[in-house]
Amino acid sequence: MKQNKYVFLWRYIRPAAWSFVAAIVSVEIATLTGMLHPQIIRAAIDCAIGKGEPSYPPFVMKLVESVGGFGYLGSHLWIMALAIVACAIVQMVFQYAFRVINTKATETMVKAMRDELYSHIQRLPYEWHTRNQTGDIIQRCTSDVETIKGFVSGQLASLQRVGVMLCFALFFMIGMNGMLTLIAMLPLIVVVGYSIYFHKIVEERFMACDENEGKLSAIAQENLTGVRVVRAFGRESHELDKFVSHNKFYTSLWVKLSHSLALFWSVSDVLSGLQLLLLMVVGILYCHAGKLTAGEYIAFIAYNGMLVWPIRELGRTISEMGKTGVSIERVRQIIIEPEERDAADAVESDMQGDIVFDHVSFGYHESSEVLKDVSFTIPAHTTLGILGGTGSGKNTLMLLLDKMYSLPDGCGTISVGGRDIRTIKTASLRKNIGIVLQEAFLFSRTIAENIGIGMNELDMKEIEKAAGAACLSETITNFTDSYDTMVGERGVTLSGGQRQRTAIARCLVGSPPILIFDDSLSAVDTETDARIRAELERRFGTATVILISHRITTLSRADHILVLDKGRVSQYGTPEELKEQPGIYRQVYEAQTGLEGRAAV
Ligand SMILES: Nc1ncnc2c1ncn2[C@@H]1O[C@H](COP(=O)(O)OP(=O)(O)OP(=O)(O)O)[C@@H](O)[C@H]1O
Ligand SMILES: [Mg+2]
Repeated sequence: MKQNKYVFLWRYIRPAAWSFVAAIVSVEIATLTGMLHPQIIRAAIDCAIGKGEPSYPPFVMKLVESVGGFGYLGSHLWIMALAIVACAIVQMVFQYAFRVINTKATETMVKAMRDELYSHIQRLPYEWHTRNQTGDIIQRCTSDVETIKGFVSGQLASLQRVGVMLCFALFFMIGMNGMLTLIAMLPLIVVVGYSIYFHKIVEERFMACDENEGKLSAIAQENLTGVRVVRAFGRESHELDKFVSHNKFYTSLWVKLSHSLALFWSVSDVLSGLQLLLLMVVGILYCHAGKLTAGEYIAFIAYNGMLVWPIRELGRTISEMGKTGVSIERVRQIIIEPEERDAADAVESDMQGDIVFDHVSFGYHESSEVLKDVSFTIPAHTTLGILGGTGSGKNTLMLLLDKMYSLPDGCGTISVGGRDIRTIKTASLRKNIGIVLQEAFLFSRTIAENIGIGMNELDMKEIEKAAGAACLSETITNFTDSYDTMVGERGVTLSGGQRQRTAIARCLVGSPPILIFDDSLSAVDTETDARIRAELERRFGTATVILISHRITTLSRADHILVLDKGRVSQYGTPEELKEQPGIYRQVYEAQTGLEGRAAV
């Protein structure tokens, strides 16, 4: 059954439920105390200049009796003044309590929401991340959460206040004159209707502004991220034009919206003015006819004034409710996504043993198969080189081995040491596989932190050993701050080759038994490539290594080579065997050694 979005919101409100109750009680006491003002003023006027004793609700009558009756109060008006001050103090105290408690409760709720969102996103499958845009995920975690927060802390309280105000104002107003109350309320219903209608109409314009704000930040973000490309191609003025024209459009949307808002408030002012005019005229007529005392008239006008503003805001609250509903749903969509889970019988594994791909077929979408019936074995402690054209499925093979995508049942099996990886705990599997991805990603932290990303506590010895194997030690020690050198965002302050070697060092930390290098030596020269491979053999000789590369010199020292062609295994054998066979490997070998030969001439 589909969970209601407000039921979903309740799970975050619940931990702070009592605080919300206390906030609501405080705001209600403050509102109620504020609503006593007109009653006190009414009594003061009626006692001092009015004729006869006005009729009050029984509890007010009792209160007045206890302080000496209306006659006594009329001759001691300072008691009324004191009562007003006392009410103001009570109102202030509860208003203060409301703000403090409400803010704390809302922040507790929002914190719980952010915490759960972030930890949930951390545990969502990699596949989910590839399906969703980072910008959109961030928008949901920030902007949507802020919308929910704004509604809960502001609009929900104001909805409460309007409710309480309306009840008590009606109670007091009907007590004074039922007919006049009806005359006051009928036009207010028109004002509410107009407000709701208007806000429904401008909701789309608000949304257009929001959307275009997102687009404007996306333009700026993309431009900043791709700053190197922009500069290299001299596209600064083109990018600037793009931003300026979108900014112009965005501004025009806001101007249009503000025209609509100005029209709304002006029409709303006229409607409220007409309502007040009607109330004043009929009220004065009633006073003349003796149906209303002067004090009651003043109190009526005061209650009306108290009600008009929140009632005019009601339309906005209702449209905010719609917007908040959308935000809650967007957050809920993330939370209901299933997390990456191990099978119930999954076990830890040391990942020693042969790696076997057995009739593996896989596609990212049902319509297209990327891997077709792939079978091969990597004997433990040997090196497999993988060669294949772009898009032939090399990455995909490794992502499946690392359980970044789960291989559906019936699509073959991948096993390590005779155990199907579906039955190996994901965390244990990934801990034992050191993978260097095609695009090395570095965090904006120190080099040591980047290399030791998998460590809970940085172990400098281990980090230096890994950096040594990746032929990076010399480069790092030449930096002013050595291992404490800060790396720019996404590694921009390092060269492509330095970035790749940092990523290699990172995967060597902890000496995992399986190492995967996905085209990760492409940005280093052939000499460094050879040195890294020699170091790897020397220091990590026992690991099972998978080397994906387009470079024959990188692959030639592998024990076996697998050639992938459009998702199928096209060749498998030792480099020497494949050199002799007609096929892709020999073509690439001849093309590359021929090139090298020509280069040498
Ligand atoms: N997340 C994805 N969603 C949909 N299709 C994908 C996804 N990742 C890769 N593909 C498609 O799967 C195919 C194989 O991609 P893969 O990255 O495995 O190729 P590759 O052999 O590593 O290529 P290259 O040598 O260019 O790195 C390609 O056609 C690619 O377009
Ligand atoms: Mg690839």
